Amino acid sequence: MTHKILILAGDGIGPEVMTATNKVVTALSQRFGLQVELEHALMGGAAIDDCGEPLPESTFNLASSADAILLGAVGGPKWEKIDRSLRPERGLLALRSRLDLFCNLRPAVLFGPLAAASTLRPEIVSGLDIMIIRELTGGIYFGEPRGIEELADGTRVGRNTLIYAESEISRIVRLGFEIAGKRAGRLCSVDKANVLEATELWRDIVTDMGAKYPAIELSHMYVDNAAMQLVREPKQFDVIVTTNLFGDILSDLASMLTGSIGMLPSASLDANGKGMFEPVHGSAPDIVGQNLANPLATILSLAMMLRYSLNEPQHADRVEAAVADVVGQGYRTGDIFSDGMQRVGTVEMADAVVAALAA
Ligand code: IPM
Ligand code: MG
Repeated sequence: MTHKILILAGDGIGPEVMTATNKVVTALSQRFGLQVELEHALMGGAAIDDCGEPLPESTFNLASSADAILLGAVGGPKWEKIDRSLRPERGLLALRSRLDLFCNLRPAVLFGPLAAASTLRPEIVSGLDIMIIRELTGGIYFGEPRGIEELADGTRVGRNTLIYAESEISRIVRLGFEIAGKRAGRLCSVDKANVLEATELWRDIVTDMGAKYPAIELSHMYVDNAAMQLVREPKQFDVIVTTNLFGDILSDLASMLTGSIGMLPSASLDANGKGMFEPVHGSAPDIVGQNLANPLATILSLAMMLRYSLNEPQHADRVEAAVADVVGQGYRTGDIFSDGMQRVGTVEMADAVVAALAA
């Protein structure tokens, strides 16, 4: 079966890491028989420059008809000054929302040889394997009313709304239990139920659902404590399920446990497992065009796509094994470099992964 993949390279380092990842796709199809048809479209700042909006309707249409979407990164200083509703990030949020990609999986896995690249001591992070499940289409990111408003006295107020419907909470929490059941069986729900009513409801729903999953060891944690515990003793966690905003913050934090945000992939899935796959890192304007970006997060996002949306687990295994192999051989981009390793650029790293793909 031929899989239709939409490539949205985006902005900043997006095109560089995507070119690198495309080499891996090409190798999988030429050497290992993966059948894919690639389409490319503009999104984010690149689309704004082209036609004035971050998510052109033509891009959205291709996205809805594709089997899966691979995204590089969006945004950058060039577009920070334009009208809020037209910024690159809005395109990304609209795509997540319109495709109902409510389930965001952000694994934080430490590759053994990278223990020295973490800012935490190796014994704290070695063997780390956490799955953060972030609710992606609700909460304060989308709640209404929102905006910046001028009052009669000429001063301004900014407002956002944290709102969760029971159904939005249940569907993500259920996945939390299901995924925990396929892993070490521990689920930690992160909220701020001591202050925010919306997350008090969240906690109630998690507790009720917990009764249906007696085999899962369930815990609840306030988000401030969770941030501390992730740094203090990260290996206490197996699966974390949390709201949109808390998941955004905690996944950046968790990425540094693994050495670099340049290593972390993510999957954003709808109820049928169709999805968009993207590195957790951003567009990194400071290193654009210098062959410095780490392409491994995007290459690992490709692996997640093969596993979760395209049902090609052997190809996913092959890509993940190749990444582990090049890291084991000592290839390092600047973000994960440590003494004695071989420093390489984006292009060389991708070539090393391609060379390491094995039957
Ligand atoms: C992420 C990013 C996005 C988010 C931005 C770019 C809108 O930080 O995917 O984590 O906040 O969701
Ligand atoms: Mg983020």
